[in-house]
Amino acid sequence: MKVKAVKERVRLGSRSYNIVIGPGLLETKAGRLIKALGSNVLLVSTRRVFELYGSTLGAGLDRAGVCWNKIVLPDGERYKNMAGVSKIHDRLVKGRYDRDALVVALGGGVTGDIAGFAAATYMRGVRVVQIPTTLLSQVDS
Ligand SMILES: NC(=O)c1ccc[n+]([C@@H]2O[C@H](COP(=O)([O-])OP(=O)(O)OC[C@H]3O[C@@H](n4cnc5c(N)ncnc54)[C@H](O)[C@@H]3O)[C@@H](O)[C@H]2O)c1
Repeated sequence: MKVKAVKERVRLGSRSYNIVIGPGLLETKAGRLIKALGSNVLLVSTRRVFELYGSTLGAGLDRAGVCWNKIVLPDGERYKNMAGVSKIHDRLVKGRYDRDALVVALGGGVTGDIAGFAAATYMRGVRVVQIPTTLLSQVDS
């Protein structure tokens, strides 16, 4: 049986956003979906997760013509702190990202929390895409 991707709109007025769920999205659609939101991407991940999925997502971003860089943070709950947020801010500043920056969080809930907070507090807020890779973060995100 072929399972199709589903797209749902979370309706929160001006803060509305889409959720896309489906098999093989990283290989097939992630690059194009991200490109539709912005083409100046900082990808935030951890070593283990980036080793598993980084090249697949990166290839999709390249195919879609997205300009992207990455920051790989240490793995684990104890690294969910302001030092991680600062590392992301530093990379955004050094890369001269402005308000059109798009932060893409590839990882579990810790990565999603740190990247989401960093995006929300950079230049009074830039956009963020969550690609949650644990069941907990997929359900909660
Ligand atoms: N941002 C959110 O939406 C959100 C949602 C729920 C919970 N949280 C927060 O997230 C944390 C718990 O989330 P978590 O359980 O995802 O923790 P986590 O991000 O620390 O991930 C747990 C471990 O799983 C590994 N991992 C992630 N994806 C993997 C994959 N696909 N294959 C193999 N290993 C993988 C990570 O490297 C890590 O070692 C808590 O701090 C919680 O407060 C955030």
